[in-house]
Amino acid sequence: MGNIIELTKGKFDKIKSRKKKLGSGVDGTVYGVNSKEVGNIIELTKDEFDKIVRRKKEIGSGVDGKVYGVNSKEVYKIYHNTSDSIKIEEDGVLDAEEVNIRDPKELRHRGTRINNKPINYIDGDGVILNREDAILKAIEKQEKVKYTNLPQKLIKVDGRLVGCVYKRYNSVFGIYALSYFPLSKRKEVLKKLYLKLKELYENNIYPVTLAQKNDLLPFSKKESNVILDYNLEPQIIDLDGISTYYSDSFCRREYERSLSSFSILALEIISGIDFLDADTDEEMERYIQDLVKRGIPQKLAKEIYNENGFKDEDRIRQLLK
Ligand SMILES: Nc1ncnc2c1ncn2[C@@H]1O[C@H](COP(=O)(O)OP(=O)(O)O)[C@@H](O)[C@H]1O
Ligand SMILES: [Mg+2]
Repeated sequence: MGNIIELTKGKFDKIKSRKKKLGSGVDGTVYGVNSKEVGNIIELTKDEFDKIVRRKKEIGSGVDGKVYGVNSKEVYKIYHNTSDSIKIEEDGVLDAEEVNIRDPKELRHRGTRINNKPINYIDGDGVILNREDAILKAIEKQEKVKYTNLPQKLIKVDGRLVGCVYKRYNSVFGIYALSYFPLSKRKEVLKKLYLKLKELYENNIYPVTLAQKNDLLPFSKKESNVILDYNLEPQIIDLDGISTYYSDSFCRREYERSLSSFSILALEIISGIDFLDADTDEEMERYIQDLVKRGIPQKLAKEIYNENGFKDEDRIRQLLK
């Protein structure tokens, strides 16, 4: 739009009410807007983006993206496939066949532009399949959702979606750590989790990967998109991308997927049975090495190795180095 900045009424009001007033004259007031944050969008330059990815502390990583601690209150989740989307933009025209999309849901993994237009895809059941639209929907729904923190903002570079902002949780560990707690505590936490999920269902938000195998989380061999904060308060995370579906009306399919995911998680934690793939020895080794890196005592790490069938003392010593 050349040299015209088009603002919506909402954005205009936000600048007026929130941005730093630098001075006031006869005709108007000058506001400092250099933070490049307007409304729900954080616009980063390529340099600022590179600095976050290179310099900020990476606090987690999953299928969709990496999570960086940018300050004490917020984390930035940056998608793995941002370079793909850059490529798609640079290549200009790209059609669905070229990106080999079998299932429309894959669109959300693969950057959201086809024929250089953002895809605005809603499936037959009213579920939003566009990553950016889903985050915008989350921001809108947050008004009614009290117990869970949904994604708060979009992060863009050159107008392209590269990630989103979440509230930061501290001293977190994966919910599977709960398996080692007394039964009454396990039940209490699972009940709290269910109440939070119920609120999400009432708002047509369906997290579908609550129980999921992975070896990246501290104190857990499985990744789950539920973490516990230092008060043992269960927090549902990963409420964007392929992990969570948003809809404007009740969607039985996603509701049942979400509920089944919760059921697996709950039953595993209550029964101590591992429903999902058993961990390989390599995963177990890495899991415990991770615990050591995070500061658990060597002695305890050694006990965990022993308890899990590692008998070779030399190997254990090597792993704990
Ligand atoms: N709000 C948060 N506060 C603290 N840590 C987080 C937060 N969100 C995510 N993490 C960490 O980052 C990891 C990956 O985040 P997640 O959103 O699950 O990414 P993915 O979609 O790639 O699975 C999580 O498993 C968790 O360890
Ligand atoms: Mg995840």
